[in-house]
Amino acid sequence: MTIPRRQFDTLIIGAGGGGLRAALQLSRADTHVAVVSKVFPTRSHTVAAQGGVNAALANVRPDNWHWHMFDTVKGSDYLGDQDAIEYMCRTAPRAVYELEHYGVPFSRLDNGTIYQRQFGGQSMNFGGEQAARTCAAADRTGHAILQALYQQNIRARTHFFDEYFAVDLLLDDEGFILGALVLDIASGEKLVIEARTTLLATGGAGQIFRTNTNALINTGDGMAMALRAGVPLQDMEFIQFHPTGIAGKGMLLSEGARGEGGYLVNSTGERFMERYAPHAKDLASRDVVSRAIVTEVREGRGCGPGRDHVLLQMHHLDSNLIKKRLPAIRDMALTFAGVDMCEAPVPVFPTAHYTMGGIPTNRYGEVVVPIDHGPEEPLPGLYAAGECACVSVHGGNRLGGNSLLDIIVFGRAAGNRIIEYLGENRYHRPLTETVLEPSLARLARWEQQGEGESVDALRQQLTKTMEQHCGVFRTEQVLQEGVEKVLSLQQRLADVRLRDHSQVFNTARIEALELENLMDVAIATIMSAQQRHESRGAHSRVDYPERDDVNWLRHSLYHKENNMIDYKPVRMKPMSVESFPPKPRVY
Ligand code: FUM
Repeated sequence: MTIPRRQFDTLIIGAGGGGLRAALQLSRADTHVAVVSKVFPTRSHTVAAQGGVNAALANVRPDNWHWHMFDTVKGSDYLGDQDAIEYMCRTAPRAVYELEHYGVPFSRLDNGTIYQRQFGGQSMNFGGEQAARTCAAADRTGHAILQALYQQNIRARTHFFDEYFAVDLLLDDEGFILGALVLDIASGEKLVIEARTTLLATGGAGQIFRTNTNALINTGDGMAMALRAGVPLQDMEFIQFHPTGIAGKGMLLSEGARGEGGYLVNSTGERFMERYAPHAKDLASRDVVSRAIVTEVREGRGCGPGRDHVLLQMHHLDSNLIKKRLPAIRDMALTFAGVDMCEAPVPVFPTAHYTMGGIPTNRYGEVVVPIDHGPEEPLPGLYAAGECACVSVHGGNRLGGNSLLDIIVFGRAAGNRIIEYLGENRYHRPLTETVLEPSLARLARWEQQGEGESVDALRQQLTKTMEQHCGVFRTEQVLQEGVEKVLSLQQRLADVRLRDHSQVFNTARIEALELENLMDVAIATIMSAQQRHESRGAHSRVDYPERDDVNWLRHSLYHKENNMIDYKPVRMKPMSVESFPPKPRVY
């Protein structure tokens, strides 16, 4: 049977902040845009971002974008590309004011300006006193941004395909991306969306870990689609573990809690961060705080009967401040830890939170790939923005508040570059039936029932393996065992048993496709981690404890074909200012 087709100028896969910001730029320029999302757009994972978005507005303390740039480069452990970081930090104030004008209900200071809180890794004067740079809508900033962007897109007549699952990118023999094959989740019907340009904005892959802050939908779909289209993934070894997940469960308690004056204590009641980061203390960058917590627990100073967590203390603060600035995380702690943070400390432990690596792009959102191991070239028609992309502004470790910034700055930039491309490439290229064949063959496999274990059982083994073998501290032996286990789990995928379609609506096949994506991204992550022989940012190798700028100041590129990894240089040259050369990183 012929598969129905729809034609658009641009296809955007993913309706989080990055996808919606790009869509808005495009719809307002009268391009014909389709957004495909596997959930209703305002349920995308951006909704879960709590603490805020960074911009040097200087509403609370003196600030400027250059200090923000310095903090971001240092936070990245010097792996971030400095041209992109400069672009992001310079653009941040304008991007935040745009959000304000779109209707984001930011919290306000008494003088009416946007409220800004302290967040980790922020400083004034290139490493001086703590800055206050994170613009917040209480602790529901992502929620507020997503709602505003969605409403603006409705107004601009962006076309939404809600609850559609993107299966594969479609590319022709000359390497042009022609759109994607998608499935209507409810009916299972296939649809080809032809587009002159395609933007991947599918978010991160936190679901490769058992304990994480991510929505269940964060299965790395865009990253895996890129891999299958021959695009390598960059810097996948850099996974951020957020220091304050609810212990044993993983839900996020915003860094805003420490920004508002909360702190961490161990079983002796000691504020242990003073030993690890004497200057920044609890507001050191996340990799530093997460390692400190794990070390406290490993050395026997953990709390609770299992001595397996530390405590986030807030109850010394005015309870009205907690209720006003942090209402959602107070609720979260009540629901999932049974603790009212106005009265008692909350058990916390690091939890997988953010994928620093992803699909390699330049600062215009163009997906760039090395041609025959030579210089990088944009892949015609393909763009990526947000957590699925690696620009790279976060390098080895992202600063809190820079992810919402990344999605709005680079979503907008990608939209602008797509508008230029559409002006120069006015016609759709032919999309023949042959182009569809690989994806249809892959789908056909999931129309048959396997005889092995269930999708769910295999997914649980994968996430447990990643947690045990690719966590906060890593060693060669543990990683090597992890690689072997994940590769063998991937073999078992071929015979996996779907849930019965007739009983569970049409979600069984989607779950299997998501598991296939998770496997690919997990392999990219653990193999890249095994092969980086140094400690940098969130990648902490016990057997290579030092950062090694001579050999490893470079980005990794994992290719699905033969599980091959190669490397490319870091862009150290900013756009208009002096670069920040690597220095020892202390907080
Ligand atoms: O802690 C938080 O509110 C998370 C923010 C972020 O990841 O940027």
